[in-house]
This record gives sequence, structure tokens and C-alpha cells, in this order.
Amino acid sequence: MSEVQEKSPLWGGRFRKQLHPDAKKFSSSIASDKRLAEDDIDGSIAHVTMLGECGVVPKSESDQIVNALKQIKEEIISGKLILSDQSEDVHLAIEEILTERVSAVGGKLHTARSRNDQVALDQRLFLRKAIKGLQSSVEGLQLSLTTKAEENEGTIIPGYTHMRRAQPILLAHHLLAYVSMFGRDGERLSDCYKRVDLSPLGAAAFAGTSFAINRKSVASQLGFSDIVYNSVDAVSDRDYLIEIASVCSILMMHLSRMAEELILWSTVEFGFVEMDDSISTGSSIMPQKKNPDIAELVRGKTGRVYGSLMNLLTIMKGLPLAYNRDMQCDKEPMFEVIDTTADCLTMMKLVVENISFNTERLKQTLQDGYLTATEVADYLVRKGETFREAHRITGELVGHCAGNEIHFSALDLVKLQSFSERFTEDVFDILDPERSILLKASEGSSSHESVEAQLTYWKNKLQ
Ligand code: ARG
Repeated sequence: MSEVQEKSPLWGGRFRKQLHPDAKKFSSSIASDKRLAEDDIDGSIAHVTMLGECGVVPKSESDQIVNALKQIKEEIISGKLILSDQSEDVHLAIEEILTERVSAVGGKLHTARSRNDQVALDQRLFLRKAIKGLQSSVEGLQLSLTTKAEENEGTIIPGYTHMRRAQPILLAHHLLAYVSMFGRDGERLSDCYKRVDLSPLGAAAFAGTSFAINRKSVASQLGFSDIVYNSVDAVSDRDYLIEIASVCSILMMHLSRMAEELILWSTVEFGFVEMDDSISTGSSIMPQKKNPDIAELVRGKTGRVYGSLMNLLTIMKGLPLAYNRDMQCDKEPMFEVIDTTADCLTMMKLVVENISFNTERLKQTLQDGYLTATEVADYLVRKGETFREAHRITGELVGHCAGNEIHFSALDLVKLQSFSERFTEDVFDILDPERSILLKASEGSSSHESVEAQLTYWKNKLQ
């Protein structure tokens, strides 16, 4: 039996022995980075086209390589070509296929390039598309929330601080708070995009190259706004990755809070929200259960994104310049961040579209918790009391009601005047949560006017 000879890797020239099979397996990243295959080929096509234009490689040969690469890309997309898991990484896998197909010229593709600038390029190409996708998902969620807010424009809810009922606010105002938060997430994505949208190609291993290449032309071929100028910087940093992981962590924190609130609001204890069957699941033992699993999973998966951010920060924190192989470990967290955030955005949009508010129950809750106490204190101030004294008097009033287990609505003017002479008939406008909302005057407050303004703003912006 003849022994099957292992093929030497493309970098194998100086080695006398093959890499130990276990070490080979350990160091391969093909399982995760094969997802970058199309970006890798796009980058190679741009690179070799530029080499042809600059005369580093004869134009006829660069054309030949471009054609072969296009063919390989098509076959990968159609599923006809599967990258071998024996390769060290996606870059070598594709170059191996290329050199098999156009053996005479394929070896010229890697002129004036290193996998170090190549991998950073692939990531940036991938991230540009990913960020655009996230931006549109964020806008989709914002639009669903805005629509929900508009549908429930007149509904008042008890607002909370410290998880205790605090003041009445318009439900739409509450929902639009999330729309604002996601608006900033969108801005952070745009800002991050600017720093992702720079080409590292041409940095080669880290020192640049003696070939007269044109970094700017290859960058503009690939639609980049500019190049990462310093060649050491171009291959050494992963701050763009850490930045998108940070942006997504903040975004996931917002999604998770919203998920948590909807979970709480849909409990029997709260009863504010009904989740549709299409976003709820049952229990394998308790037949009556209807669980908010989709929202819970969004909350749970937030940990993956935070974890990936920590993963990336930790990979990078001790690395001297320039490239170190540690950096290969950045692919899994990169994909984790993008995939989880994209999925959770889609799922929270579905959740928002499939909730309904229990307006009867919400109306009921407005009577409990002395929600208008702050308004009563403000009322006394307008009648000439200092705020501190007004606060004390109102506190006594609440103490009296709580002691006798009555709502504000049970108070008559005589009783009220026993706490302060300043109370007159118009206090009843203040005591009633629904009427007190109408008195909100400050900009951006929970008034009908402010909610109208926000709805108009977001609807225009999101169209
Ligand atoms: N697979 C490597 C990575 O993802 C590509 C760069 C390898 N460079 C090298 N000199 N070994 O980081």
C-alpha cells in the first residue's frame, strides 16, 4: 500500500516536517471563517485587478485570475463547491482552489498582500453589510413601536420608579422612550460604520510592500470611503470589531429591558399586556401555562453579546503590535454579536406587533398608588406654598388615605381643606390621573401635545 502524502501548506517551503495533525486541527479556523468566503473573493478580485492596472501582474494574467475567482464564487454560492475543512483558513482554502484551477498564474494573486491585511479586509466587508442590516432592523422595530404608540394614543398607564407606581403617563410616551433609545442605537451604528468603512488592504503583513500598488484605487473599487493609512495599524487593531460589539451590547441592553418589561406586564399580577399565542409557548407539564419565551430568550441571549464583547477585549488586551495569531479567535464572537443582535431585533419586532394592551385593567390601576400626589404638591405651590411645605402636606394627605384604605377620589373638599386652606374646587382636576395628564406643560413631557410631536417626528424620520 502506498502511503498517502499530506499536501504541504502554501507556506510550507521552509519546513522539513508536517504540522502535527492535532496542532493542525487546533489552529484551523475554516469552520468559522468559511462564512467570509464571498467577501474574501471580492477582496481578491479587487486586489488582483489593481495589480493588473498597476502592472505588478500582467493584465492578461490578472484577468485570468479574476475570471477563475468569479467562477469559484459562483460555485460556492450555488453550493457546487464546498470548502475543505482540511484547510487552515478561508484565505488559504480559496487560494488552494485557485492555484489548482489556474496553476500557471494563480500563485500571483498573493503578490503584495498578506493574510494579515486580507483577513482585516474580509471582516470589514462583512461588517459593512451586517451594520446596514442591523440599521434597517432597528428602524423596523422603531416603526412597529411607533405604530403601537399611535394605536394606543389615549391610553394612560401608571409610570414606575423603584418598581413602585409613581405618576400617570401616556402609554404612547412610554413606548416612544424606547423609540428614542433605539434611535441612538441607530446613530451609534452609523458612527461605527464610518470607522469600519476603511480599507486595510495593501498593508501586507504590516510594513507595506515594495511593489508600486495603488491602495486608494483598490479601496474605491471595493466602495470604501478611504484607507487605514498606517500599515501597522491596519493589521494590528480590531477596535472596529470591539466597537460594533459595544454598540450591539448597548442595543441588546435596550432590547432586554423592553423584553423584561413586557414579561412583567404580561403577568397575571400586572395584567397590562396580552401576548398573542403566536409569540407564546406552553409548558410540558402544566397545561394552563402560557409563557413569554420569545421575550425571555431575547433577555437571555443578551449575555452572548456581552460575552463576545468581553471575549474580544480580552483577546486584544495583551497583544504587542502587529498581527498575532490570537486574533484569529475574533471570528466566532464577531458572528455571535451580529447574528444574535439581528435575530433579537427581528424577534422583538414580532413581539411588539403581537401584544395588545388591556385598557380596562390599566384604567383601574390608575386609581391605586396615589399617582397624582406630585401634581397635588405642585398645585399647592401654585397656590403660594413652598415646595417643601407642599410636599409635607401632600404626604400627610397620602398617609391619611393609606391609613383609611381610600383612594384620592374618595376625598371631598371639606376633608382636603382640613389639610390645607389652599385647596379649592379646581383641585379635583389635579387629583384625577386622566385630567392631570392634560396639565403637563414642559417640553418632552407626557402630554398629548408632546406625544403628538414625537409621533410626527418619528413617522417622518422612519418613512
Ligand atoms: N486565519 C488568520 C486569522 O484569522 C488569518 C491571518 C493569518 N496570518 C498569519 N500570519 N498566520 O487571523
